[in-house]
Amino acid sequence: MSLGEDSKRDGFSSKFGIICAAAGSAIGLGNIWRFPYIVGENGGGAFLLIYLGFILLLGIPVMLSEFVIGRRGQRNAYGSFKRLSGSKYWPLVGLMGIVAAFTILAFYSTIAGWTLEYVYLALINAFKGLEAKEIGEVFDSFHTSAFRPILWQLVFMVFTAFIIVAGIKKGIEKYTKVLMPFLFLLLLIIVVRSVTLPNAGEGLKFLFSPDFSAITAKTFLEALGQAFFSLSIGMGTLITYGSYVNKKNKLPNISFEVSFTDTLIAILAGVAIFPAVFAFGMAPDEGAGLIFYVLPNIFQQMAGGYIFGLMFFILLSIAALTSSISILEVVVAFMVEELKLPRRKSTILAAMAATFVGLLCTLSFSSLSEVKLFNSTIFETLDFTASNVLLPLGGLMIVIFTGWFMGISNVKNEMSNDGLLKIRLFDAFIFIIRYIAPVAIVLVFLNSVGIL
Ligand code: TRP
Repeated sequence: MSLGEDSKRDGFSSKFGIICAAAGSAIGLGNIWRFPYIVGENGGGAFLLIYLGFILLLGIPVMLSEFVIGRRGQRNAYGSFKRLSGSKYWPLVGLMGIVAAFTILAFYSTIAGWTLEYVYLALINAFKGLEAKEIGEVFDSFHTSAFRPILWQLVFMVFTAFIIVAGIKKGIEKYTKVLMPFLFLLLLIIVVRSVTLPNAGEGLKFLFSPDFSAITAKTFLEALGQAFFSLSIGMGTLITYGSYVNKKNKLPNISFEVSFTDTLIAILAGVAIFPAVFAFGMAPDEGAGLIFYVLPNIFQQMAGGYIFGLMFFILLSIAALTSSISILEVVVAFMVEELKLPRRKSTILAAMAATFVGLLCTLSFSSLSEVKLFNSTIFETLDFTASNVLLPLGGLMIVIFTGWFMGISNVKNEMSNDGLLKIRLFDAFIFIIRYIAPVAIVLVFLNSVGIL
């Protein structure tokens, strides 16, 4: 089956635009907020090794599979499965992605709201002269209150919806192209300051020297969830973006470049955070507040800290925004193409629904902090379910579909742009998505629930 490019569909206009949008989706709070604290809670270096293994072995193949499905299907996550499979069951994988999108967007906007508060705090120089302990208290009293976190969460959702209403070329592509390179530069500057702090070596040792005694069955699941979350895979974001990629662009190269950049940024964030954690006498397993406790201290100790701190939180919010739009787009593309609703209306409805769940996440740090399921707050439950269950499950179905149901010749044609490109390692790719990836994902699951 050959599905031509749909000329009426919006799409990316250049390779650079695609890379920025896809990297913009991948690089976000997952790298800078989530990665350091998950590494911190899971013992450091050994976790990092497992994480890197999962990126190479599972992450890149799943990402490429998503791009292949999306560009061949020329539709949203649900519609691409429907067109390519001709069955009514495979589209359910797309539907599961849409559920995951709501879940992730909800708790994502909570944290993105926090970063906006920190833009404000940096702007008014609120941390000037404060000790590490007092900086911690600022965060504690902020995130356990209700009004301000909600206010910022709403502001963030409005920004997200605003860009999505504008579409692909004039929305997503236009903004990400300019902003992502800036974030990278600034992170490098912060890394330099952090590794030259007294006692920095402790932090680098924590991050890079593996202590295998810290590993449990859950470590593998956490590493898998983090890898999928960070790469934006397992829920159809990259199926949706893949459907906007021009038939001339090279999917294998894009997958590789995006995964590489995303991983580089996560490691840089680790190198920025951990030396400072130890230099300021904090613990790496602070949890979700880690960067908010640590980073203001680095800026305090830095020449030009005011301006660097301000720029950093602005860019972090923007990184969050270029990710959140990619999550919302999954839902909106579905509503537009499958439910035939206008783009603007779809965006507003989807954003409002996600905001509603998002409010519960935000309040789970204050008035709803006692509402618990299996000992976890609403926020923790949604993050865990989406990242560690829905994404790996989605990834599993995606590789099974690509490896076993799409037809090897279809996969090859799509990857090679109808035979124009010579693709190396095609057989290895097929072997991975048919056997290695499905088995590995299932094993990690069984292992973590204690069956194995
Ligand atoms: N990858 C993004 C981050 O690291 C978050 C994100 C965007 C995402 N789209 C996604 C996560 C799709 C999972 C699935 O912040």
